[in-house]
Amino acid sequence: MSLSDDLAALGYNEAEIKAIAGKATVSAKDPLTGELKDRPGTAADKFPAVVYAGLGVPPDLSLITKARPNGAAYVHSLLIGYQAQPAELLKQFPDAKTGDGLHYNPYFKNLNLAMAAPLTGEGQVTYSDGTKATVDQMSTDVTAFLVWTGEPNLEHRRQTGFWWIGFLIFATVLGYMSYRNIWAEKKGH
Ligand code: HEM
Repeated sequence: MSLSDDLAALGYNEAEIKAIAGKATVSAKDPLTGELKDRPGTAADKFPAVVYAGLGVPPDLSLITKARPNGAAYVHSLLIGYQAQPAELLKQFPDAKTGDGLHYNPYFKNLNLAMAAPLTGEGQVTYSDGTKATVDQMSTDVTAFLVWTGEPNLEHRRQTGFWWIGFLIFATVLGYMSYRNIWAEKKGH
């Protein structure tokens, strides 16, 4: 999907989408010379990859809530689950000490992951409605966002599903009534 579809689905209007896209620098082929050149982003571009100085490229998480079992709960737990390595564990398994550049998190598959806790404390974002930005709150929201990126048309699909189930129930009742009607004479009613 292009930036424009993604941002429109999030509720941004055309002017806002153009402004957001324009802030990015995109390396693209010049149509006349075929040379790679930097130009400001347009609404038709894809989201550029994010690179953090010295920390590399974080993985694409748009499908992570689908890629992991019970994905939403997993992501939420992972984000709030960072902690010091339990002393008990270290005593029993000294070799399991979390390595340099890794971070202990009991929700990660091998207990140590390369990502430092992205949500480090209260107030990293400001909610326009005054909601308190606790780590738990921010984690809930970023997780809900990742559920959305995993399947942007989920709500529409469910609504369509309800309509279809309603229709099928109606068709079943109708079918049963015509069956009764057609056979009424033969059955001597
Ligand atoms: C709120 C923002 C963020 C969220 C919600 C988030 C979430 C996640 C999740 C769910 C994983 C996947 C774990 C798995 O494979 O099951 C992950 C991995 C990773 N993230 Fe983040 N992340 C965030 C910010 C960042 C940032 C800012 C960086 C870079 C500075 C980063 C770097 C990484 C790296 C390197 C991994 C791979 C870890 C490994 O496999 O050891 N993340 N992140």
